[in-house]
Amino acid sequence: MLQHNDDTELRAWLQKLPKAELHLHIEGTLEPEMMFEFARRNRVALPYSNVESVRAAYQFTNLQSFLDLYYAGAGVLQTEQDFYELAIAYWRRARADGVVHAEIMFDPQTHTHRGIALETVFAGLARALREVRDTWGVSTSLLLSFLRHLSEDDAFATLEAALPLRSAYRDLWIGVGLDSAERGNPPEKFARVYQRCAELGFKRVAHAGEEGPAQYVRDTLDILGADRIDHGVQSSEDTQLMGEIIRRRIPLTVCPLSNLKLGVFKDLHEHNLARMLRAGVAVTINSDDPAYFGGYVLDNYVATALALDLSHDELLTLVANSLNAAFLPATDKTRLLDRLAHEASQS
Ligand code: ADE
Ligand code: ZN
Repeated sequence: MLQHNDDTELRAWLQKLPKAELHLHIEGTLEPEMMFEFARRNRVALPYSNVESVRAAYQFTNLQSFLDLYYAGAGVLQTEQDFYELAIAYWRRARADGVVHAEIMFDPQTHTHRGIALETVFAGLARALREVRDTWGVSTSLLLSFLRHLSEDDAFATLEAALPLRSAYRDLWIGVGLDSAERGNPPEKFARVYQRCAELGFKRVAHAGEEGPAQYVRDTLDILGADRIDHGVQSSEDTQLMGEIIRRRIPLTVCPLSNLKLGVFKDLHEHNLARMLRAGVAVTINSDDPAYFGGYVLDNYVATALALDLSHDELLTLVANSLNAAFLPATDKTRLLDRLAHEASQS
């Protein structure tokens, strides 16, 4: 176990390590305070009287019970300034946690279906990300995520609507993702749109094996050609699949506090992250929807380290995995890995 006297020391040690966050929904960073502020200025009615009652409502029983509140909350996001402030606020928190690179998912359909222009979403997020990139020396990018409870035609329409914006946001928009209700919406539903994304040269990630079966992880790799799996914790149900994930070095972007809040694991002590890591899986730690799940990325590292008794070296491996799994040029990865080695040697 770690040679740290208390949680505060562990937290301080982890904070200094340069980390990448690879599984983060920007809509999931909407803190209740911001929700109220945006609702006020955009004149959107909320079914809550104060911030405390919003937080009290965050008692989830499964993924769908969360998604219902998450989509409702996103209704307060209306203007370019809202998306800008949301992304700036996320990056402020992430930077304080020692994040040096973040690949941020956004759900265009959540906004376009409410009449918000795609350009508004892109413009606000891009203004924030370019500002933090240019002033803080961090790197960051965007993954446009399709909602899997909607049709593949809707995903296609979203992609086609976004493509004319590609040249304006080429420095940020690097890939696509797939999220929302997993069960009953298998990967093959999106085979054609992922094929098109591959032809267009986009990186491809997808949620799989969060609540859905290991077979969805297999199909996400085989049919969608995913470069990374978001969650993927159900993979451990299938030994052969585990072997393939290890052999092919497929990264899993695991989100322990999310899994806990959504009942994927009843207790953090039961989480399979340590078992997968020790088996050789390229596991990473991420926050998913931190405003809803009670913790940003550093909280996820600390809680997981304590619950699973992770060693110093295992935590360094998790951080190195996050840098290696990032969609970054090799030279940038080497530089960040060198920084990590330097930090580790100081402690
Ligand atoms: N959208 C935001 N968070 C999600 C999650 N954990 N699973 C699926 N879709 C999501
Ligand atoms: Zn997610």
